Amino acid sequence: MKNATKSKDKSAKKRAGKKGLRGRDYLSVDDLSTAEIKRILELTADIKARPKKYRRSLEGKMMALIFEKPSLRTRTTFTVGIKQLGGDSILLTPADINLGKRESVYDVAKNLERMVDGIMIRTFGHDICASLADHACIPVINGLTDLEHPCQAMADVFTVLEHRKNLKKLKLSYIGDGNNVTHSLMLIAAKLGTTMVVGTPEGYKPVQSIMDRACAIAEETGAKILWTADPVEAAREADVIYTDTWTSMGQEAEAAERRKIFAAYQVNAALFSHAHERALFMHCLPAHRGEEVTDEIIDSPQSVVFQEAENRLHAQKAIMLELLRE
Ligand code: CP
Ligand code: NVA
Repeated sequence: MKNATKSKDKSAKKRAGKKGLRGRDYLSVDDLSTAEIKRILELTADIKARPKKYRRSLEGKMMALIFEKPSLRTRTTFTVGIKQLGGDSILLTPADINLGKRESVYDVAKNLERMVDGIMIRTFGHDICASLADHACIPVINGLTDLEHPCQAMADVFTVLEHRKNLKKLKLSYIGDGNNVTHSLMLIAAKLGTTMVVGTPEGYKPVQSIMDRACAIAEETGAKILWTADPVEAAREADVIYTDTWTSMGQEAEAAERRKIFAAYQVNAALFSHAHERALFMHCLPAHRGEEVTDEIIDSPQSVVFQEAENRLHAQKAIMLELLRE
């Protein structure tokens, strides 16, 4: 897994002489050990239960939030989250910085490290995010790239833990397109010992390097990471059914073709009936109702999609706290 390995090497450099997660980056779930993920999950729970305790934890700290793609949840939760920790943020859109065109990624990194305490970036290529982190001596957090969405995965497993106590005893099924959200979920499931079955059409599997890495981690943790082209097989006896858009940001030209290819992977009442009776429904949002999921499923009592969205706030506060605190 070239990109994640690169981010790991660089994180190791940033880590030199530092305690815990302070000063590190979070570009990939694989940047964190199982113990570090568990620590962030515990901190997330405390932050959610006792937010006032943390209201001055990052006093005076400034985050730059770089968005090269649209966002509701990530932008709102990072902006509100840093504020609730006593810090502040500045939003940088393509209209402001035009990353890599108006100015090189290197120059942006070298400027921002002198002005702010941390960077969150949502961009296209994972290499852009990795390069920014390589050149900046301040922590960089991946707010979504084409390859991974690690903050989403952290909030997602936290959400599952609010409903199910033992992640090692459940089957998490992801059905739809093998994308950035899938990749981060596979890595976090592998790290936490969960069984994850990914159901996608043959041509839309998760990338092989992530599959290989997740399986290698699973060997050590007792997790199982499996793939099938059969949506019913993926859904069978699942404790959680997760889906995401069939057309991720940047793939809009393929939307019509994808709607046909993914039709059998729609999470509807028929497909959901193969899951465990009490199965949860999850989606990172935004949802395309009537495409990857029907109203009856996303609006059902078993759907936890808005809880997931809220948990982005608590989980990212925990991540920022671990990376940025003195
Ligand atoms: N799930 C998620 O990242 O949502 P946004 O694209 O709205 O930030
Ligand atoms: N896979 C989606 C996730 C959106 C939060 C995308 O990249 O557009």
